[in-house]
Amino acid sequence: MKKIKIIDIIKKKGKQPIVCLTSYSKNISEILDKYCDLVLVGDSMSMVLYGMKHTRDIKLDTMILHAKTVKKYTKKSLVVFDMPYKTYKNKNVAYKNAKKVINETKCDAIKLEGGKKIFDTIKYLTSKKIPVMGHIGLLPQKVNKFRLQGVNSKEKNKIFNDAISLSKSGAFAIVIECVVEELAKKITQSISIPTIGIGASKYCDGQILVTEDMIGLNNISAKFVKKYSNIRKIIEMSVKMYRNDVKKRKFPSSQNIYNFNN
Ligand code: KIV
Repeated sequence: MKKIKIIDIIKKKGKQPIVCLTSYSKNISEILDKYCDLVLVGDSMSMVLYGMKHTRDIKLDTMILHAKTVKKYTKKSLVVFDMPYKTYKNKNVAYKNAKKVINETKCDAIKLEGGKKIFDTIKYLTSKKIPVMGHIGLLPQKVNKFRLQGVNSKEKNKIFNDAISLSKSGAFAIVIECVVEELAKKITQSISIPTIGIGASKYCDGQILVTEDMIGLNNISAKFVKKYSNIRKIIEMSVKMYRNDVKKRKFPSSQNIYNFNN
């Protein structure tokens, strides 16, 4: 099993679709590692795992704790750490925090939300050998309500210019979130680094989803999420059966107890 490097992700552009998902924990990481090129320790853990209102509410140290585990159990895939809100408000703060993240978690790269405005920060980080993935379109750290982006020409131009700017900043890939298909296609065809779409069409070089959404554990419905299973239902059924067994004294059975004969 060969460890995937940043250059391998870049080389896939226009050739092989890049498979990405999020992870915050050991068990999910072990599974994803078999099938994903890239695993993101997303700040979506704030809402998905901790039930917080915004992604803005998660703290750097909480994410570091999860990222250490994800990295430990992800042997092959590239692991990217999503820098939380306010941890990259200028290039010096960004470098200090990014260095701490890489040193403590051993993640392979970091991700920052934003376009043109963070060009200098990304340029600075990459000059210091910190690999950076960009994130444009819908920026969860900036909004209170999630909605489709790039719906008029002003928005489209802004997102397109953000993509061009990031592609020149030294970023190795860009997540494009929740934009209209024609814009994602135009961006993907216009830049030399891979685009990773989430609600951004099949024209992106790769796809990412929040794993808990995709397996049907997190109770959300969004058009761009395809649910590949309904784990929530399976867990609920299991809990219900366990409760019934306990109440009827069917659990533990003879197979689940210790005595001197077995
Ligand atoms: O935080 C996250 O999980 C993300 C992905 C949805 C791209 O940023």
